[in-house]
Amino acid sequence: MPVDTTRVRREPRLSSRTLQTVKAPGTYRGLRMPPPRVNLPRLRLPLRTPRLLLRAYSLRDPPRIARWLSDREVSRTIPLWPQYDLADGTAFVRSARATLRSGDGYRLAIAIRGSGEYVGSCGLEIRSLRDRRAHIGYWVARPFWGQGIASEAASRLCQEAFRTLRLHRIETGVVRGNPASRAVLRRLGFRSEGWARENFRVDGEYRDCEMMGLLAREFRPYTPPPGPVVAAASDPPDPEPGTARPA
Ligand SMILES: CC(C)(COP(=O)(O)OP(=O)(O)OC[C@H]1O[C@@H](n2cnc3c(N)ncnc32)[C@H](O)[C@@H]1OP(=O)(O)O)[C@@H](O)C(=O)NCCC(=O)NCCS
Repeated sequence: MPVDTTRVRREPRLSSRTLQTVKAPGTYRGLRMPPPRVNLPRLRLPLRTPRLLLRAYSLRDPPRIARWLSDREVSRTIPLWPQYDLADGTAFVRSARATLRSGDGYRLAIAIRGSGEYVGSCGLEIRSLRDRRAHIGYWVARPFWGQGIASEAASRLCQEAFRTLRLHRIETGVVRGNPASRAVLRRLGFRSEGWARENFRVDGEYRDCEMMGLLAREFRPYTPPPGPVVAAASDPPDPEPGTARPA
């Protein structure tokens, strides 16, 4: 029986060049391979919760980002350099907006409904479209800790990830000694899946990370407490533009 050669597609050739991470036209994630055939629907932004708005980042946000992330108590358990300034904040916003446009993920600003105050960040990055798997990350400015903001934001994002994007699994890693983040994840149904040894560096010291995973069927949405969000009195001062406080 004759072979229909028109149906045979040439395999992409792998070389060091094809493994570069720079995106080029006709490539997917920098690899010369056909783009995935799974198309995820787009989330309609902003996402609303009883007390919060999860919105796209704007070029008005960098001064606030630099202000909150120059607080070492916030930045030391997330993968950032010890100092975080206005230029880093601007780069972060540009990158978040590019990710949103590409559909590779959703890095969203957390704002208080009503006042619009920017208090943190919550993001989902699609790690494998084929496996419908994503990574979640978040941080909240220190004056707003302990009021359920991270739980409320992460819960909304997980809800959209499972309901609208139809993902199957969300995962993340929590550095040893970060009980608040662990509490947020456990509350939403995340389970511990073991430890990645010394894969996170905090203040020059390698620490283990607990790998946490959540399957769609395990998700428990979070209901926030009644009443408004209030800022604690220990609001750190603004850094000078273009500078960051020392670590
Ligand atoms: C982790 C973080 C986002 C939590 O934000 P948050 O808005 O305060 O979180 P929530 O209020 O929703 O929940 C925090 C939970 O941790 C608990 N918690 C806080 N400190 C704790 C501690 N030392 N030991 C045990 N539990 C603690 C709180 O009691 C709360 O649980 P509860 O409501 O059941 O009492 C915030 O601390 C932060 O930004 N940390 C730095 C960045 C970071 O670590 N991001 C996560 C990376 S994996």
